[in-house]
Amino acid sequence: MTPHDSLDLSADDWDEANFPRPEENDFDRVVERAISRRGFLGGILAFGSGASVMGTGLLNSAQAQAASRFAFTPIAAQTDFDVHVPQGYSWHTLVRWGDPLMPQAEGYDLTEGGPVQGSDMVFGENTDGMETFLFRGHQLIAVNHEYTNRKVNLPAAQEGVVANADDVRKLQNLQGVTVMEIRESDSGWEVVTDSRFNRRITHRTPMTIAGPAAGHDLMKTEADPTGTASLGTLNNCGSGKTPWGTYLTCEENFNGYFGSTEEVQDQKPNALVDGYGRYGIGSDGWGYDYHKHDARFDTSKNPNEPHRAGWVVEIDPTDPDSTPVKHTGLGRFKHENAEVVLAPDGRVVVYMGDDERGEFLYKFVSNGVYVPGGPTDGLLDDGTLFAARFDDDGTGEWLALTPETTGMELAEILIFARMAGSKVGATTMDRPEWIAANPHAVEAYCCLTNNRNRGVKPNAGGDDTPVNGPNPRETNNYGQIVRWRPAEDDHANTAFDWDLYVMAGNPRVYNNIYGGSQNVNEGNLFNSPDGMAFDSHGLVWIQTDGNDSNEGEFVGMGNNQMLVGDPVTGEIVRFLTGPKGCEVTGLCWSADRRTMFVGIQHPGGSWPDGTGLPRSSVIAVKRDDNALVG
Ligand code: FEO
Ligand code: CA
Ligand code: CA
Ligand code: CA
Repeated sequence: MTPHDSLDLSADDWDEANFPRPEENDFDRVVERAISRRGFLGGILAFGSGASVMGTGLLNSAQAQAASRFAFTPIAAQTDFDVHVPQGYSWHTLVRWGDPLMPQAEGYDLTEGGPVQGSDMVFGENTDGMETFLFRGHQLIAVNHEYTNRKVNLPAAQEGVVANADDVRKLQNLQGVTVMEIRESDSGWEVVTDSRFNRRITHRTPMTIAGPAAGHDLMKTEADPTGTASLGTLNNCGSGKTPWGTYLTCEENFNGYFGSTEEVQDQKPNALVDGYGRYGIGSDGWGYDYHKHDARFDTSKNPNEPHRAGWVVEIDPTDPDSTPVKHTGLGRFKHENAEVVLAPDGRVVVYMGDDERGEFLYKFVSNGVYVPGGPTDGLLDDGTLFAARFDDDGTGEWLALTPETTGMELAEILIFARMAGSKVGATTMDRPEWIAANPHAVEAYCCLTNNRNRGVKPNAGGDDTPVNGPNPRETNNYGQIVRWRPAEDDHANTAFDWDLYVMAGNPRVYNNIYGGSQNVNEGNLFNSPDGMAFDSHGLVWIQTDGNDSNEGEFVGMGNNQMLVGDPVTGEIVRFLTGPKGCEVTGLCWSADRRTMFVGIQHPGGSWPDGTGLPRSSVIAVKRDDNALVG
């Protein structure tokens, strides 16, 4: 078992892994409809030997094999404590948790939990989403630090228990975002520790709150009576990049940092909705214990502070003195990532998932248009937020969240986006993780990582979660990837068609829908797709955060991994495997596309350096002949 503490959803899923489930059920009806209609691939949804195969069988054909666009021989599943890549490729570590980002941090020592001093000048823990930027010849990279393993960040004797304000300060410093300059030398990629661009953004960094909810009463606190400025960005999960060259960091499980030092009877922020209940804000938090030592996180003293987290935050990586901006226009939920595309008329479209069982997919469409070199103020705030409804016939609609459709005022729609989504009847999803748009086709993909509650119990807002088109399996421990094509090739359009690109599963164990879609085979078994990005060739890279026991219904899947898929043929092959215990998350490319940067979060053992502590790291993957890797 890896040092997840009690915080990581992967560990939670691990515990739930071996539920018995029915072989056949009446949700076969939904599945039958999904495979009976013609998907984008003309049959990719056909299942293995246990169901009637409706498609063209294209994945098994010799032509599909001959036409493979992958430049490597796929690798086998692995169960060891190392990283593996195909023959002809190699990897090395770019940066590890605790590595200095500034000359003053040289010698920062992690072994006994590390000092507070300097903890905001080193690479943070639990690397997640990341993006690269080329600025005046400088290769910059921004990297999220999602959460913290208290057992490895605090002195060993404390066994992960926060003892004082210094412990809190250190945990706050080791999460957030890193912006740094990197360069490639003869010995590989390295951090430029004396670069003026290097910056840590932590749980304490001043932020501006922008957009329609800024200044609303629900956003005001004693320390900030204006409701327009907050401190820190929390639980930075996936990422995004704007066409104007800024970084988007997405606040996911922010609720876990808040708690209450006093019994509060009815902690409803207003009469309208139970925001604490829907967003999972309780009195104990998840063990960070910030609330015991930092009153800002004590909801009995600052009941509105949780409203100031759960947003998408924009950071200018080229200006280390810039103030990050929380964009309330993009809605407040447990944000996974933010995939930005442009509509044909220049409007900015941001696709976003809310990673919780039975929550929704969202899209923001700006009012204004992006003009290269022009002003960008308001492009991520002035517009309309939508939630998705998927119909079982393969069509869907983006439902506008407006005062007219929800009966809520605009600021409340944004602060309590989940409730607004429920009011319009959005489709409950199997934990939407990363969304990625294909640069070569007007379509977007979303990883629906898994959902043990599908068909079992409602979401936190009481919405039923019956099996439905894009979420066709009760007690879904494997996950799937849904994709959609907007009407008229316009991402700003509200109508779309959808299909499933892949349904993960295990054909070794199941001879039914749990065996996976036809493009799942003995050579590419995986579960719980999570991170996802397209490369410039239009191939889709898929990272996993699932059960790596390699046993039972997960036999043959091995450690968490990164695969690559061809959107046209549906073929999916395994490219990389992580060390046991880890999640593979975060992917971006150097400006010359000869290096792929991959994040290894919460590794097990003492990867990568055998020094006793597992260290979350970013690795650089290259081809030995220095050819393009994406
Ligand atoms: Fe931070 Fe949903 O992954
Ligand atoms: Ca994770
Ligand atoms: Ca994730
Ligand atoms: Ca995940």
